[in-house]
Amino acid sequence: MCGIVGYVGRPGKTTGDHGALDVVLEGLRRLEYRGYDSAGVAVLGESGVESRKKAGKLVNLINELEANPLPESLTGIGHTRWATHGGPSDNNAHPHLADGGKLAMIHNGIIENFADLRQELLAAGYSFASETDTEVAAVLLGDIYAHAGGRDLATSMQLACQRLEGAFTLLAVHEDQPGVVVAARRNSPLVVGLGEGENFLGSDVSGFIDFTRRAVELGQDQIVTITPDHHAITDFYGNPAEGTEFHVDWDAAAAEKGGFDSFMEKEIFDQPAAVADTLLGRYDVDGRMTLDELRIDASDLAGISKIIVLACGTSAYAGSVAKYAIEHWCRIPVEVELSHEFRYRDPILDAGTLIVSISQSGETMDTLMAVRYAKEQGAKTLSICNTNGSTIPRESDAVLYTHAGPEIAVASTKAFLAQITATYVLGLYLAQLRGNLFSGQIKDILADLQDIPAKIQDVLDRADVIKELARSMPDATSVLFLGRHVGYPVAMEGALKLKEIAYIHAEGFAAGELKHGPIALIDDGQPVFVVVPSPRGRHSLHSKVVSNIQEVRARGAKTLVIAEAGDEAVRDYAEFVFHVPETPTLLMPLLATVPLQLFACELASVKGFDVDQPRNLAKSVTVE
Ligand code: AGP
Repeated sequence: MCGIVGYVGRPGKTTGDHGALDVVLEGLRRLEYRGYDSAGVAVLGESGVESRKKAGKLVNLINELEANPLPESLTGIGHTRWATHGGPSDNNAHPHLADGGKLAMIHNGIIENFADLRQELLAAGYSFASETDTEVAAVLLGDIYAHAGGRDLATSMQLACQRLEGAFTLLAVHEDQPGVVVAARRNSPLVVGLGEGENFLGSDVSGFIDFTRRAVELGQDQIVTITPDHHAITDFYGNPAEGTEFHVDWDAAAAEKGGFDSFMEKEIFDQPAAVADTLLGRYDVDGRMTLDELRIDASDLAGISKIIVLACGTSAYAGSVAKYAIEHWCRIPVEVELSHEFRYRDPILDAGTLIVSISQSGETMDTLMAVRYAKEQGAKTLSICNTNGSTIPRESDAVLYTHAGPEIAVASTKAFLAQITATYVLGLYLAQLRGNLFSGQIKDILADLQDIPAKIQDVLDRADVIKELARSMPDATSVLFLGRHVGYPVAMEGALKLKEIAYIHAEGFAAGELKHGPIALIDDGQPVFVVVPSPRGRHSLHSKVVSNIQEVRARGAKTLVIAEAGDEAVRDYAEFVFHVPETPTLLMPLLATVPLQLFACELASVKGFDVDQPRNLAKSVTVE
């Protein structure tokens, strides 16, 4: 999830006195929410390609440009990075150069087969200055440009894209072709901006909204070439294609949120991509898990005797979901510990213990201190983290990054689903190493996981149903959430979301626990969400949870039920039913959580609260 901008302008154009650098820097400023690990620009000047790039926020690049200016130019590309392969550094910042410095490229996405391509290019005599998948794509494009592509950038981009696997938006310029920017997209966003005597490219419309509101949407596997007075679209084989022109009605602020009212809502709707991108590149075509990125020896991993998950808040609930999945698949005991409690309870750790920390920010002090303590006790440490190069992964033996992209809203949503996905990936990998699951079983589970993004989208497509429920409850003062098995951490997360952003007392319970005390809370009209498991399968807890619904309903509760599609048995006991698509029980949290996120987001909005920056909270709690 990076910010990308491209620009070409005709000399003597009549629209504005801006040049390439003005446009690119303004676009990157508006796109910085998409990533802020590093930033860079490249322009075509009199003496060819010139670029500047710096780690850190955009301001570092601007300071660099003041100290070391670029020449005036009307052709340029710019990038603000959210690191996936290779930590935040000047070297790993984009653009990356190739063809003897004559070609510059920027990229958003993950190129799955970059390791094979890198070996192929090394064997061909090329060298690399960075650890990134992007530089591999740039060198590949440069090689094709110089040999097979007839020194035509668009043709070369077509041939290069035929070799790439994964998700990518690529922009490239070459000094042989001033006034031309060529771009390609597969599974990553890219949109064209149309001006008078100038044209634009952006990860989204906020990249050029200050200069034009005429935009063209591109389709999958397409290449677009922009010049000052023209844009041409083809597929990856040179066949002409059409884009869909539209007018951007959003104001600039709304554009940064993708047209949504808040970053939180935007990030809820980003979840299909967050899950898909976190799965990407972590299994092969035969359904074998491939976690080459883990720096813990496979034999050590195969020999672990216990897993302890360390996390806080929402991330701890992701760990609670992981407990069910990993214990079921791997037969390894999994303890989930709140980081701030862990090191004060004199825990039992040894070399057979694998510590799995889960943290979106990678800076949560409670979790960092717990990981340090565990390392001192001799445990192996693995970080599941969404922020490349942050402290916790840096201090861990290994890291499994989630690829949810920057999560701006304080209330975590897409990172939560990405964390759960990453724990499933880890669990399947451990099961493969230890022989707990046959490859066929892993392949089946992966197939179910690959269906999840579309199923999340199915839920999102019906968001208005949930929003309407929230709008009907503006005066709610207390909401309870019930769930069993993996539905229990979902209930806990649903309660946390409501507390965090709507400032309403909310509490999650294991549904079976209610009769041991909490049911005394139920009085007439008490709203109770119930996450109901699938009725399918021999061990279904469905009938028990339906009994729990009846227990609270008999005492006046307003029962709000999240159930699996086709489950009509719940309808007689529910004021409100929202169905999520069928999926295996262990994967259900990836679907059942979404309505609860939407409910909290809408109710907070209805109450007029700042959804993205709720009171008393910080996005990363860097104090103990
Ligand atoms: C979740 O909505 C909250 N913002 C909070 O509970 C958060 O999950 C917790 O502070 C842990 O943060 P981390 O994932 O960055 O470590």
